Amino acid sequence: MIEVRNLNQTFYTAKGPLKVLMDINLDIPKGDFVAVIGRSGAGKSTFLRTLNGLLIPTTGSVVVNGTDITRLPKRELQKYRRTVGFIFQQFNLVNRLSTLDNVLHGRLGYLPTWRGLLGLYGEADYRIARQQLERVDLAAKENARVDSLSGGQQQRVAIARAMAQQPTLMLADEPAANLDPVLSEEVMRTLRRFNEQDGVTVVINIHALDLALKYAKRIVAFKRGRVVYDGSPEQLSEEVVDDLYERKEMLA
Ligand SMILES: Nc1ncnc2c1ncn2[C@@H]1O[C@H](COP(=O)(O)OP(=O)(O)OP(=O)(O)O)[C@@H](O)[C@H]1O
Ligand SMILES: [Mg+2]
Repeated sequence: MIEVRNLNQTFYTAKGPLKVLMDINLDIPKGDFVAVIGRSGAGKSTFLRTLNGLLIPTTGSVVVNGTDITRLPKRELQKYRRTVGFIFQQFNLVNRLSTLDNVLHGRLGYLPTWRGLLGLYGEADYRIARQQLERVDLAAKENARVDSLSGGQQQRVAIARAMAQQPTLMLADEPAANLDPVLSEEVMRTLRRFNEQDGVTVVINIHALDLALKYAKRIVAFKRGRVVYDGSPEQLSEEVVDDLYERKEMLA
């Protein structure tokens, strides 16, 4: 479904060029659940933003269902992006709006802009939004201001909003980083459920190695912009993990 080919990302900074992603090659089949791990600055967020078409790579391609999304005209890119759900560490909800209105925002990509601006959603949009709220167990909170909910609930609203897009790909950048361990598991379970029930492909950046190993089908480890491991959670060895986090070097 997703073919990443010879992907390179270089940022040109005041201090000179900064190579953030180097020769990334990955195939991600439909329905996969990939956890991207690696130290801070390894390039994980940059990689996710490239999959979403937010960033155009310096060289290389990202082919999704046969189309290279790095070379799309603006309109086509917008069309692609509405099929991609994105969940952030900071939830990114609109605080003054209700839970339901936030989830309805997931439908905006399907409305003509003027209808979206006026909040003129159709019946189907309401049905889909309510369905997703139900699935994250927050139907009873649809009229509550979203900032009155707990952090874990807010992240579930963000997941419901992303699911209301009826995405084929769900990207999550540290979705549990602001949550306590219990709520983190809840978020991971929710993602797994959508992955299993809807077949939506999940790619998630996550620092918590235990959660990555427990919930992902596949681990991709980035070290200084390169993929140093790509395989099952079971086969990820202590050695690779030590090297990834440069533990030996830290102790030396
Ligand atoms: N737009 C940009 N311009 C210049 N440098 C950037 C830009 N975006 C990211 N970087 C740099 O690229 C490197 C990788 O950043 P990235 O955010 O992808 O890392 P990460 O693996 O997600 O780290 P973390 O775990 O801390 O979130 C960092 O050195 C960062 O400062
Ligand atoms: Mg990051």
